[in-house]
Amino acid sequence: MAAALVALGGLTGAAHASPPPQTNIIGGTEVPDGKYPFMASLQYQDEKGNWNHFCGASLIDARGLLLTAAHCTGFVEPDKVRAVVGQSKLSGDDGRIGTISHITVKEEADVALIFLNGDFSDITPIQLVTPGTDALERPGRPVITTGWGSTVLDPAGPGGGGSGTYRPDRMREVTVPIVSNDECGVSYPGVDFKYSLCAGRHGKDSCQGDSGGPLFVKSPATGRFIQLGVTSAGAGCGALGYPGIYAKLSTQEVGDWIANLGRSKA
Ligand code: ARG
Repeated sequence: MAAALVALGGLTGAAHASPPPQTNIIGGTEVPDGKYPFMASLQYQDEKGNWNHFCGASLIDARGLLLTAAHCTGFVEPDKVRAVVGQSKLSGDDGRIGTISHITVKEEADVALIFLNGDFSDITPIQLVTPGTDALERPGRPVITTGWGSTVLDPAGPGGGGSGTYRPDRMREVTVPIVSNDECGVSYPGVDFKYSLCAGRHGKDSCQGDSGGPLFVKSPATGRFIQLGVTSAGAGCGALGYPGIYAKLSTQEVGDWIANLGRSKA
């Protein structure tokens, strides 16, 4: 709940900030229309009736099942929240809109499932990593993360957080290396690597507003996208020595939890 308020609160300065000097998610590039159709934007409606992006998510089943971060689902008025799936520009009108049917949360892993009302049958969902396998998450492997989060580099610790945020209208992507648990544990001693994995390097990262979105690879064998993680946390953004932390989907317990709930929608 507190974390979700942080996610929403992070939006407040966005309208006033000016674009960052770098073309940068952090250190990334713009995503052309249609490249990642499984991407979703979670949005809340303000008093003026405007819809505001606050978290990412991914479509994992065309019947309207979204995977996001648990900390993105602390909102208290589900009727003021919607998901837009399959649209690269937040200002566009080519996405599929879903209203919230119900939500199930797995707190340990910072993952949640959102069951949507709406028609998503023409969108190819992202495939999930096979539980119990880690071949795609060896340290150093390049993986992709996407979102509409802040593009302003934020050094962790003293001096960090002061640079403001800039929220792009068009989705961004960045390729980041998987960071070993040993190395990540030095930066984040409290992290439980049963439920988390780390990726990123100085200047290449996700940031506030990217939470809930996917960490994924393109399968060399099939060309399909395979999701390994859910954007969760980090100190600063793109900060030296502080990679991004992602909820880990290859853990058997997490994969089984998702698969069981996914089936219950049938
Ligand atoms: N918790 C953030 C959110 O709500 C995501 C932070 C990711 N940070 C990072 N340095 N990778 O959007």
